[in-house]
Amino acid sequence: MNQVIEFIKSDRLKEKPDLESLGFGKHFTDHMFILDYNKVQGWHSPRIVPFEPLVLSPSAMVFHYGQAIFEGLKAYKTNDGRTLLFRPDKNIERLNRSCERMCIPPIAPDLVLEAIVRLVEVERDWIPNKEGTSLYIRPFIIATEPYLGVRPASEYKFMIILSPVGAYYSGRQLVPVKIYVEDEYVRAVPGGVGHVKTSGNYAASLYAQKKAEELGYDQVLWLDGKENKYVEEVGSMNIFFKINGEVYTPKLNGSILSGITRDSVIQLVKDWGVPVHEERISIEDIFNAYKNGELEEVFGTGTAAVISPVGELKWNEHKMLLNNSETGEFSKKLYETITNIQYGKAEDKFGWTKEV
Ligand code: COI
Repeated sequence: MNQVIEFIKSDRLKEKPDLESLGFGKHFTDHMFILDYNKVQGWHSPRIVPFEPLVLSPSAMVFHYGQAIFEGLKAYKTNDGRTLLFRPDKNIERLNRSCERMCIPPIAPDLVLEAIVRLVEVERDWIPNKEGTSLYIRPFIIATEPYLGVRPASEYKFMIILSPVGAYYSGRQLVPVKIYVEDEYVRAVPGGVGHVKTSGNYAASLYAQKKAEELGYDQVLWLDGKENKYVEEVGSMNIFFKINGEVYTPKLNGSILSGITRDSVIQLVKDWGVPVHEERISIEDIFNAYKNGELEEVFGTGTAAVISPVGELKWNEHKMLLNNSETGEFSKKLYETITNIQYGKAEDKFGWTKEV
C-alpha cells in the first residue's frame, strides 16, 4: 500500500554548522521522519516533522530490554550540485534482516527508501560540500510499547535523523588509527546478534573500547567469542589485511556485521584483479605475516569510517607497526576510488549511486 508522507515544516530553522569543525554526529538537521507501528494499523502515519525531543513512557520496552536497531548511510553533494546516495537498497535490506532477528515487524523497502529520499530532499541545504564531508543518514527503530514483561513489543517507532559529518576519526580522513586487539572481552558469540545492527552490540563494546582508549588506542579489534583466536571486526568497521599482494578479510560467520563498504571494497578489489580471500583468519597468522615482513597494509571499512588505514595493531605483548604508521598506497587508492564514486567524480560502473 502506498502511504502519503505528511510534511510539517519547522518554523525555527537552525543555523548551519561550520564545515571546518563538523566532526561526527554532533549536529542535526531541522526535520526528522517518523513512522509508527501497532498491531491494528501495522506501520502507519509516515511523516516528516520538526526535529525535536520525543515523548515516551518510562516503561517503553526499549529502555528495559534494548529492542532497538539502526542503520547508517550517507548523502553526498557532487561538484555539479547533484545529491547522491550510496547503495541505499543494501542498508534497507540489512535493516529488515535486523528487524527479523530482533523480532521487529519488517517495513516495506519502498517506503523506507521513499522516506530517506524525501527527508534528504527536504534537508538538501544541509548536505555539506567541503571535501570529505557528507550528510549522515541514521534510520532506527525502537520498541515503544509501555510494558515490563519480556517479549517482543507490539508498538514501535521507525525514525530517520540526519547529521552533517566530517571524518569519523580524529577530524581528518585517512589518518592511520591505532588498534588494540581485545583478548579478554568479546563482542559477539555464535548464534547471537553480532551479524545485525542492534544497539546492544555497541553497548557491549564500550567497556573494552574505554580500556583501549585508556591505553592510547583508537579502537578495539574483536576476536571470535568462542576461541578468542580469530579476527572478527573493529568497533565501527570491518577489517582487511593486505598480505603478499593479496587481500584477506574475515568471512561472514554469523557474528560479524556485513558492512556495505566491506562488500563494495571486495567488489572493487576483485575488479582490479587482486585476489580477495574471505576466510577465517587467526590473529596469530596475522602476527606471523607481520614477523615475516608479509603484512603490507591493514585497513578498516565502514560507512562512517570510509577506508581507515591502521597504523598500529597491539596484540598482547606484540606491537605491530604497519607501513611506518603512514597511510599505505593500497588504502589510499581504495579511499580515492570509493569516494570518487560516492561524490560522482568517477564512473559508477557498479550502479551503486542513486541520485535524489
Ligand atoms: C556506520 O559506519 O554507519 C556505523 O554504523 C558505525 C557507527 C557505529 C558509527
